Amino acid sequence: MNIALILGARPQIIKSASFIHLASQDLQISLNIIHTGQHYDYEMTKIFFEELSLPEPMANLNVGSGTHAQQTARIMLRLEKLLQRQKPDVVVVPGDTNSTLAGALTSAKLHIPVAHIEAGARSYDMYMPEEINRCLTDHCSTLLFTPTENCTRNLLKEGIDKAKIHQTGDTMYDVLLQQLSKAEKNQILEKLALTPKTYALLTTHRPENVNNPENLKNITEAIIRLNQLTIVFPVHPRTQKQLRKTRLLKKLEKQKHIKIVKPLGYHETIKLIKNAALVLTDSGGMQKEAFWLNTPCITLRKITEWPETVKLGANYLIGTNTQKIKEKASEILEKKDEIIEKLKNLPNPFGEGDASQKIIEAIKSFQKKSN
Ligand code: UD1
Repeated sequence: MNIALILGARPQIIKSASFIHLASQDLQISLNIIHTGQHYDYEMTKIFFEELSLPEPMANLNVGSGTHAQQTARIMLRLEKLLQRQKPDVVVVPGDTNSTLAGALTSAKLHIPVAHIEAGARSYDMYMPEEINRCLTDHCSTLLFTPTENCTRNLLKEGIDKAKIHQTGDTMYDVLLQQLSKAEKNQILEKLALTPKTYALLTTHRPENVNNPENLKNITEAIIRLNQLTIVFPVHPRTQKQLRKTRLLKKLEKQKHIKIVKPLGYHETIKLIKNAALVLTDSGGMQKEAFWLNTPCITLRKITEWPETVKLGANYLIGTNTQKIKEKASEILEKKDEIIEKLKNLPNPFGEGDASQKIIEAIKSFQKKSN
């Protein structure tokens, strides 16, 4: 059977890696990876193909940056032609980016069954572009692969047919387990002169934080005040532009305890999360990775699509208030050994690390029934 996998942004490449490896080895599957070109810098895309040993995409739509409508529309226009020629049996779309939605919509309109990896995640904040992408993608998918029980419940609440939902676990967890030994050998701590559990890792790139000058200022002010430890800050391209525009970059660069670096590779990031005393982030994926690696996480948002991690007490939803970030971080640092011990004993609601295997089995069985 012919499967087309559509991806284009950094987290999609990572969460597809275990699926790509298994599908490529399966003699019954011919896998074509279509890269939309939503992300295009070396550090945002190519590096992950190299370090996760992924095959080159068979096509790159080179859509690049633009407004949401431009980016989504360009993907749809270019993808439609390609899918009409290729006629895949199933189109797989991972995650919640503009590439996910454009891929799902184009395929559904061509009557090609859509399989959504990471279905059912909800923040219930329609102001987030990712939430719009997730909801619409789920509602035009034929196969919905959910990472957790909570995601399955979210879909059922929206009236999605139970028969379409397969609770497989999270493919990001598969990838983490498969790559952990390589990540552990990574030299990023030496490269940045860091000692385990004496630094915090910060990432922020969500438009609602970095495109809002007040939120961005509050976050930067919090990490400037948090000078009792080193803070490593890999800067996403969007964040870099906004930090320059608001002149906050210069201010951050003057701080001795803050290390500003380019976006990092997957192994570097995993090694940094595992050895950090604390993660501060607005990324969805890093909230889960911190949870799996037993590192306490402060989420710089008021809501999350991963409430499982909050309910279990591993993730603190703090938002962007400077004082609150500083206070919560200091509190965690004071009790860090005790907190880390507690994290080690938590259950994992994200499956067993075999999500991609289950996804492939479900696609094959769907295809058999359709023929
Ligand atoms: C996208 C996803 C988000 C995901 C994130 C990971 C959507 C709506 N959002 O947001 O779910 O968490 O990727 O990074 O799809 N840029 C570069 N070089 C690049 C890529 C982007 O300079 O390689 C710049 C673009 O010019 C743009 C900005 O960064 O202005 C943001 O890029 P965009 O494609 O909108 O996606 P992200 O914000 O990264």
